[in-house]
Amino acid sequence: MSTSGDKSKEIPVDSAGNDSGGSSPGMIVLFFIVGFAASLAVGWIVFPKILYSEKQQPFDFNHVTHVELVDDGCESCHFFRDDGTYAGVPTMAQCIDCHEEVQGDSPDEEIFVTEYVEAEKEVPWLIYSRQPDCVYFSHAAHVKMAEMECIDCHGDIGESESLKAYQENRITGYSRDIWGNNIAGIKKNSWDRMKMDDCGDCHLETMGSKGACFQCHK
Ligand code: HEC
Ligand code: HEC
Ligand code: HEC
Ligand code: HEC
Ligand code: HEC
Repeated sequence: MSTSGDKSKEIPVDSAGNDSGGSSPGMIVLFFIVGFAASLAVGWIVFPKILYSEKQQPFDFNHVTHVELVDDGCESCHFFRDDGTYAGVPTMAQCIDCHEEVQGDSPDEEIFVTEYVEAEKEVPWLIYSRQPDCVYFSHAAHVKMAEMECIDCHGDIGESESLKAYQENRITGYSRDIWGNNIAGIKKNSWDRMKMDDCGDCHLETMGSKGACFQCHK
């Protein structure tokens, strides 16, 4: 009896307190804004930081200076082999003619020459565009047949003066360039993302169909 009596006394006190301004529309809006801002900060700033780990390339590489130095532009290092497959990132064979001896005084070149050229080791480059193993992709179909430009899928790496950090998705292990630079999935440039739907959307536009599964999967 005494308990219920206490309660019935408490209720009017509480509602009186509330009525006197505790949950005025102003407070509700304020709490909403604070909560909204906090969840935006978590979603846009904290979450991507947690989701992606950053790795540096073994050493930096300047595309601009190298493209000027070589004879055949991009193809000097990124070329099609005789069997039509794409060589992809260059191996030591594309560097050794010039770097058997040190060319300049860049610390990056020093790392390259002492740790890789002299040790006769290939450089373990991190591939920004690397797809999961189950995906089949052919450069010949896109670059030769469809006459697409490198920039359409890779962005301006070929005109860059230094290599960006490689970001790896901690959950999937994929490169950030596959699942997209914008965490909300907004795509401003054709190279912002290269997920299954990005491949399929262009195939739908250019070939009239997204393609059968086995077209892209081994
Ligand atoms: C002297 C050799 C050389 C030349 C010439 C060269 N590249 Fe590269 N390229 C490299 C090296 C080394 C890398 C680093 C590999 C990496 O990204 O992990 C690279 C990486 C790239 C990548 C990134 C691949 C990935 O997903 O990781 C692209 C795209 C690229 N080059 C485009 C170009 C274009 C376009 C040109 C011509 C304008 C060009 N390159 C000329 C050596 C060269
Ligand atoms: C045609 C000759 C030539 C080829 C081929 C070449 N390099 Fe170079 N590289 C140079 C010269 C010259 C410099 C010095 C530029 C400077 O310091 O002014 C240089 C500089 C560098 C540097 C210092 C940082 C930078 O990028 O400027 C690195 C690292 C490097 N090269 C790596 C490579 C790798 C890796 C390859 C093969 C994929 C390669 N180079 C192929 C001529 C070449
Ligand atoms: C239609 C989109 C597209 C175009 C156009 C394209 N690429 Fe790629 N590139 C890719 C994809 C996707 C991969 C990853 C393939 C994989 O992981 O199997 C890749 C991988 C690469 C790699 C790394 C390959 C490796 O594993 O060693 C290099 C280097 C590269 N591309 C350079 C180029 C250059 C240079 C051009 C222009 C001549 C070009 N790409 C045009 C989509 C494209
Ligand atoms: C911007 C447009 C575009 C994008 C993006 C694109 N493709 Fe394609 N792809 C094409 C076109 C056009 C062809 C047909 C080339 C031809 O044979 O003339 C093609 C052909 C192919 C083929 C060969 C099909 C065949 O039967 O010969 C494969 C496999 C393929 N693409 C896989 C991919 C994958 C995987 C991706 C994403 C990583 C991708 N493509 C992204 C336009 C695109
Ligand atoms: C135009 C090329 C293309 C076609 C057609 C395609 N895929 Fe994919 N698929 C991809 C690419 C690129 C990826 C990797 C990027 C991603 O996960 O979005 C992928 C990823 C996947 C994955 C996830 C694999 C992993 O390791 O995370 C599955 C499952 C899959 N595809 C199933 C299918 C099925 C089923 C079909 C047929 C209905 C199909 N795909 C058709 C290009 C294609």
